[in-house]
Amino acid sequence: MITHNDGKTALVTGASSGIGCATVKFFLGKGWNVVALSRNLQKMQARLPASPYLLMVATDISDESQVRKSIADAMDAFDRIDVAVNNAGTGITGPFELLTDLQIRRHFDTALFGHLNLVRAVIPIMRLRQNGVIVNVTSEAGRIGFPFNSIYEAAKFGVEGFSESVRYELREHGIRVKIVEPGQIRTDFAANSDVADNSGAPDLYPIFEKIKKLMRDGSKGAAPETVAEVIYRAAISESSQLRYPASSVMLKFLPFVPDRVLALIMFSFLSRL
Ligand SMILES: NC(=O)c1ccc[n+]([C@@H]2O[C@H](COP(=O)([O-])OP(=O)(O)OC[C@H]3O[C@@H](n4cnc5c(N)ncnc54)[C@H](OP(=O)(O)O)[C@@H]3O)[C@@H](O)[C@H]2O)c1
Repeated sequence: MITHNDGKTALVTGASSGIGCATVKFFLGKGWNVVALSRNLQKMQARLPASPYLLMVATDISDESQVRKSIADAMDAFDRIDVAVNNAGTGITGPFELLTDLQIRRHFDTALFGHLNLVRAVIPIMRLRQNGVIVNVTSEAGRIGFPFNSIYEAAKFGVEGFSESVRYELREHGIRVKIVEPGQIRTDFAANSDVADNSGAPDLYPIFEKIKKLMRDGSKGAAPETVAEVIYRAAISESSQLRYPASSVMLKFLPFVPDRVLALIMFSFLSRL
């Protein structure tokens, strides 16, 4: 077994791209061992540095048996997992009535059940050492409703509620739970998102056509490294702070804006499109 510094090990999902990729590099730079998971091993090999302190494992987090196998590989390599970063995810946009049941279930399989699969697999390992941190990456869309984003929001709100609740039961086993909530970040996220097929009814939701153009611009937003830094800060924090906004202007103002006012702002934005 080869270990970095004092052997601290972080596991990061969604490591082949964007925020996950930046997070792997950030932890490596801080002297940690890192286990990187995504479905595409070649993409990880192309984008991450070759290092004896980095183990890359092709894993689909929606498949519990793959997650368990990858956790076993991680333990074989480094013998511990101090931090698990549940970051993997894709987007899904469109009017709810035009999204199919299959699209919705496929999204939940990764964005909700995939996250639960990872947490379920790391709890026993962290419980044995009475120490560990689980960082769930949600979004400002895990706190605020955005139009034509209902299913993405449902999964992110789900992970927020799950995290807020499960942290109480894990605390007595020395496991801390954190939520990192990015705003708009420059990644492949928009390009990788699933979109409702409205070709059969293009006039049904005309505003969606305009919003789609805004949403698919992946060149806007903060660099993924800014989120990686927040994830690292959350992971090493000894505090009981649960939520860590990352490059989100909206979340800065959220505590001061009542629901009613937020809805007025959103409706007025939609009416000006
Ligand atoms: N970009 C933004 O503006 C933004 C804002 C708020 C929140 N977020 C959240 O940040 C997280 C990372 O997104 P990103 O912006 O970095 O997007 P990204 O560049 O598209 O990266 C997504 C990563 O997730 C992996 N992934 C997707 N499905 C997977 C599965 N079933 N199993 C394992 N890995 C899977 C992808 O790798 P493979 O295809 O190789 O599996 C990829 O590495 C997501 O949870 C997203 O919801 C992003």
